[in-house]
Amino acid sequence: MTKSQKTATLTVHGETYELPVFSPTVGPDVIDIRKLYGQAGVFTYDPGFTSTASCDSTITYIDGEKGELLHRGYPIDQLAAKSHYLEVCYLLLYGELPSAAQLEEFETTITRHTMIHEQMHYFFRGFRRDSHPMATMVGVVGAMSAFYHDSTDVSDERQREIASHRLIAKMPTIAAMAYKYSVGQPFVYPRNDLDYAANFLHMCFAVPAEEYHVDPILARAMDRIFTLHADHEQNASTSTVRLASSSGANPFACIAAGIACLWGPAHGGANQACLEMLKEIGTVDRIPEYIARAKDKNDPFRLMGFGHRVYKNMDPRATVMKQSADEVLDLLGIDNNPLLQVAKELEKIALHDDYFIEKKLFPNVDFYSGIILEAMGFPTSMFTPIFAVSRTVGWVSQWKEQLADPQHKIGRPRQLYLGETMRDYVDIENR
Ligand code: ACO
Repeated sequence: MTKSQKTATLTVHGETYELPVFSPTVGPDVIDIRKLYGQAGVFTYDPGFTSTASCDSTITYIDGEKGELLHRGYPIDQLAAKSHYLEVCYLLLYGELPSAAQLEEFETTITRHTMIHEQMHYFFRGFRRDSHPMATMVGVVGAMSAFYHDSTDVSDERQREIASHRLIAKMPTIAAMAYKYSVGQPFVYPRNDLDYAANFLHMCFAVPAEEYHVDPILARAMDRIFTLHADHEQNASTSTVRLASSSGANPFACIAAGIACLWGPAHGGANQACLEMLKEIGTVDRIPEYIARAKDKNDPFRLMGFGHRVYKNMDPRATVMKQSADEVLDLLGIDNNPLLQVAKELEKIALHDDYFIEKKLFPNVDFYSGIILEAMGFPTSMFTPIFAVSRTVGWVSQWKEQLADPQHKIGRPRQLYLGETMRDYVDIENR
């Protein structure tokens, strides 16, 4: 980031102020308003941060108009085709693709941190069986700060690294345990002979009563889902993690906050909501009714899996996910699945409908991921936990970046106050 020669001029109450402008390596210029209140006595107003850069970062770049997503400069479609999740984790965490030796060491480290403290099993048993696995995950991940004291000092760079490794390694174990608990099956311990994605499938679907062989094509599809969700710059849950961390909170508390934010249907919860919507639509002939509802201003219904704050073009992750969905369904011999037929028809109609074209509403990554996960045998309640597993590396990479920045400050937005001005207290008998 360099301060360019350019400045922006702002006139407030007849006074003119020159504001510095930063030029990113790629993307739109950014006006530096940090001194604005001190100089001009005014705030800026941007609910939902539609035009506000909350930090500088070198991790992920999105061009929403073009539909481009880069991690450390590498396009997501190349990473999805040629790389795999743990290599992408290394890239996000450390900034460069690893050498063969670095990758081996990283994979070994992650693999050897996958078990959780045995006493944490009791935490799961404290939840109701019908708890949503995201509810369980928020609690259990937050509870990690009570178990891993040697990695909670955020001022120690090595402790930060250990916490990052622990979170990436243990999140699949925690998600799988949340699932097993919800279906009343025994927990399955991680296996070090399996790769990250295969181990996750094994922990979710194996039972002690018989052998479970992970299909390598399904493991590859799982790995791709993890890869495609690994990071997405300053989205709501990542910004939540950064804001929580800005107070110096411990890493596990910050990630638990990120999980809580991700759960909402406008964010990570959309994959569950999308599949439930496809099931509710049920048959192709009912699609027009739902399209009409999505367009009706008086109906709160939205087509889940469509639209994105940043992408005003096809989400590049959705393009890869769509191919993956075709492969997985083909492998499982369910290419005439009614849900898939509804999804494909819905996609076709929405892409040609004026409302969706005008508002640049394209299918997002969640539109297709749910179809794959359902075909693999996951219940809809596990879709968002799987997103949380994938996004953990993005959260910890952004969290590490923030803490390594000597200029980082506590996040403290201002407001446009529209409430009462000062007034005197009225005794209860006089109200
Ligand atoms: N269906 C119908 N209309 C929509 C949809 C949709 N899915 N998404 C946006 N619109 C319309 C809005 O009604 C609005 O119309 P208006 O200008 O006439 O008022 C316009 O498009 C812009 O929408 P906003 O809500 O202002 O856009 P915003 O950037 O705030 O929201 C969001 C983005 C939350 C993703 C939205 O598109 C949405 O709710 N989509 C469905 C949920 C979803 O799929 N979320 C997943 C996001 S991706 C992810 O987290 C991995």
